[in-house]
Amino acid sequence: MNKSNKRRQFLKNTTLGALGIGLSPILSSAAPEKQQEELLACDRTTVDYYGAGPFYTANPPLLSSAQLAKEGEPGTRMIISGRVFNLDCMKAIPDAVIDIWHANDAGAYDNDAYNLRGIVKTNSQGYYLFETIKPGKYLNGSSYRPSHIHFKITPPGFETLTTQLYFEGDTDIPGDKAASITDGKFDARARIIPLSTNANNKLEGTWDIVINGDGITVGLNDLHLDKGIIYEVFPNPATNQVNINYGVFQDSKATISVYDLKGQLVAALDEKELVSDKYNATWTPEASLPNGFYFIALKINDLQVHYLRIMLTR
Ligand SMILES: [Fe+2]
Repeated sequence: MNKSNKRRQFLKNTTLGALGIGLSPILSSAAPEKQQEELLACDRTTVDYYGAGPFYTANPPLLSSAQLAKEGEPGTRMIISGRVFNLDCMKAIPDAVIDIWHANDAGAYDNDAYNLRGIVKTNSQGYYLFETIKPGKYLNGSSYRPSHIHFKITPPGFETLTTQLYFEGDTDIPGDKAASITDGKFDARARIIPLSTNANNKLEGTWDIVINGDGITVGLNDLHLDKGIIYEVFPNPATNQVNINYGVFQDSKATISVYDLKGQLVAALDEKELVSDKYNATWTPEASLPNGFYFIALKINDLQVHYLRIMLTR
């Protein structure tokens, strides 16, 4: 496998992990390789033709709870998450600053204050996540701009990438000067992501970012779904007890761990010498843990092979 193919394979695996529960049908189908092939290539994230656009406001607040849209903000709730990678796609970048802003449900920007504007940072493993509402559309000349989120992404000590994220199936993409570009330095294709609806009736999308920056390799170049997978984590959102069904595909030491959004370990559930089979585990969150998002991770012989995200609401 040459370097390019290797990188491609790696990021595909990562993205599969991020897709979570929706992945299982893909894996069990007859031709998973072909379907996986189309998911994502490891190419540098491109800038948007329109750049930051006219509505950027500097110095937005750092979001402590990952909530870009306050409770009660009109619109369809939406969760965007992913990982920020170095150009080699083998290292994730912790502490990258992700400055996000977008229009409200009616297509208007808050140009007086910081509603729907804020900063999240990638955690110790390079993950980011925020919850917001799906942006409304606004007129740009005689046509509507497709629904989009603006991003300024800055790895520690490196240059800022300014770009925009769009959503698959948006009928205003073909007529948009920026979102319709399919080659060159403004190629928008990898910035048009599918959205699915989760059990909590919120839209969810995954977007991995590839940018020039330093990174860490710890636990990263080892996301191998051929070694094991978490089939299901339920209920999600959870209040009390979380059930985890997982599979181990080789005789190995298997560990189920729970991390918070910052990447800190909050529970180590299972560490067993296992033979290849299906297993289950349960996690009863400590009462002192705050509500919010957590990652359930499966490690095989200390390599993280898969994770799923879960929300605690109590
Ligand atoms: Fe915009």
